[in-house]
Amino acid sequence: MSYDVLRYHSVNKTMMPLYFTFLFLILVATASGKPPHVVFMVVDDLGWNDVGFNNPDIKSPNIDSLAHDGVILNHAYVQPLCSPSRSAFMTSYYPFRLGLQHMVINAQQPVCAPLDKTLLPQVLKKNGYATHMLGKWHLGFCRPECTPTHRGFDSYFGYYNSREDYYVKVQGNGLDFHINDKINWNAVGNYSSFQYGDAVENVVRQHDVTTPLFLYFPIQSVHEPLEVPLRYYDMYPNITIDGRRIFSGMVSAADEVVGRLVKVLKEKAMFDDTIIFFTADNGGWVPYHGNNYPLRGGKITIWEGGTRVPAFVHGKPLQKTGVRYDGLMHAVDWFPTILEAAGISYSDPKRDGISQWKSITTLSASKRTEFVYNLDNHTTPFQGHAAIRVGDFKLIEGYPGLYNGWYKPNDSWPGEKPNPDYSDLHVQMDPYSYSNWTNFKGLYNIRDDPYEHTNLYDKLPEVVKKLQARMSYYYTMMVPANYPPKDPKGNPMNFDLWWQPGWC
Ligand SMILES: *[C@@H]1O[C@H](CO)[C@@H](O)[C@H](O)[C@H]1NC(C)=O
Ligand SMILES: *[C@@H]1O[C@H](CO)[C@@H](O)[C@H](O)[C@H]1NC(C)=O
Ligand SMILES: *[C@@H]1O[C@H](CO)[C@@H](O)[C@H](O)[C@H]1NC(C)=O
Ligand SMILES: *[C@@H]1O[C@H](CO)[C@@H](O)[C@H](O)[C@H]1NC(C)=O
Ligand SMILES: *[C@@H]1O[C@H](CO)[C@@H](O)[C@H](O)[C@H]1NC(C)=O
Repeated sequence: MSYDVLRYHSVNKTMMPLYFTFLFLILVATASGKPPHVVFMVVDDLGWNDVGFNNPDIKSPNIDSLAHDGVILNHAYVQPLCSPSRSAFMTSYYPFRLGLQHMVINAQQPVCAPLDKTLLPQVLKKNGYATHMLGKWHLGFCRPECTPTHRGFDSYFGYYNSREDYYVKVQGNGLDFHINDKINWNAVGNYSSFQYGDAVENVVRQHDVTTPLFLYFPIQSVHEPLEVPLRYYDMYPNITIDGRRIFSGMVSAADEVVGRLVKVLKEKAMFDDTIIFFTADNGGWVPYHGNNYPLRGGKITIWEGGTRVPAFVHGKPLQKTGVRYDGLMHAVDWFPTILEAAGISYSDPKRDGISQWKSITTLSASKRTEFVYNLDNHTTPFQGHAAIRVGDFKLIEGYPGLYNGWYKPNDSWPGEKPNPDYSDLHVQMDPYSYSNWTNFKGLYNIRDDPYEHTNLYDKLPEVVKKLQARMSYYYTMMVPANYPPKDPKGNPMNFDLWWQPGWC
């Protein structure tokens, strides 16, 4: 035992009464403390290399300063796609246990996040929180019970689908914007970052500070379509690839929203009592200029580029800040982590998430040593796949997904300047052309080889066996993918050209 360890663990007998008084005071202070305000911010499709704290070419000063004054989660994992990640955030269950493992919930599919699962805002609301949501839902809306204000949110301002025009709020052949349960014409026209900035100021200004606030804030940025007001585009004169230049501007516009959030929290003297949780929902979407370099792959793939994302926690309870935390954190962990931060005890022995609150606040070892990237045996239109992490190792079986390389931010893409090196991307148009990846088998030591260059599958059969055994265990919990065909009843033609519930 080192001297330091001894010093911390041996309490001199004469010091005992003092020690206990001190301990008691700490306990009283914690127990009587007001519950904190909580902001859970999700930036859509923000890749590893798309934020200033990982890439100095991106201008995101507000996000960066929160990250640097907090704890950056250096190994924060999510699902490779929007609906699966959001379902994990909101339920603490892996999507393969919810039937949401295959793809996103498409606009006309009669599907929503299972109604028998308790969502995070429901628990917070029950424990006295005011709960508000601004932004993208994407957990289904075919009937009213599926929508945010029926699932734990006091108020909602945003859209139901996967994506829409940043100005006109059109997705496919319908408009998509709701305030609570009502369609909202007023949202049509202005750039969405400005609107979410206005909305977050309103929510915080109108909040009664004696009640703890939970704000779920999954903004539209920086998902495609690539759209940004000129002044943000002008911030990046040195970027020669036009799409990347627009995309970078979109990150800066999103960063401005974060700045407005911080400013209004400070105005209301709430900032010091607020814990901010920040993550992306999946990696950057490479064909739309999201970037994950030097990680491999991107959104829709189970490579690290699709699943390891920028994330951080900011708030007073952190014992040490300005550091990167290397412990494992998975999308299913946010739910119990946020509840513990809020001082709420809620137990569901069946859930997959583990609270990381103590680990993050004290920078101690993560309680997570393994997680499932995904299990998906639903083979059409895309191929099935499975991937798991156990300790330092990652096993991939089957189709890793759409594109499999390493892409730099200044690389050009098909449709812009065709580049033969990126022929993989044509898989977007023809998912079957890469059927030679269907039987892929990969084993990577992520600690030594975080960018997945060296496939050890044939070299380490014992490790493969061990990970396969864990995978088999998880397979026993899997439910079939809930991925029905589009229902014509959901067509906006039936709802005055708005995307609306009421057809399932
Ligand atoms: C868009 O929002 C910004 C920021 O709130 C506001 O200043 C501007 O007037 C709005 N523009 C339109 C066209 O509504
Ligand atoms: C563009 O590059 C030049 C030369 O490296 C540099 O001095 C300038 O600061 C860059 N401009 C921006 C806006 O990043
Ligand atoms: C492209 O970006 C990479 C990594 O960001 C950098 O190493 C390389 O020099 C850049 N190439 C050009 C031509 O700018
Ligand atoms: C699939 O085929 C492409 C093109 O021939 C090749 O580059 C790639 O390595 C193959 N992938 C596998 C897993 O064999
Ligand atoms: C996928 O696995 C589930 C659960 O084991 C099973 O019910 C389903 O039939 C499988 N689907 C396919 C297409 O193999």
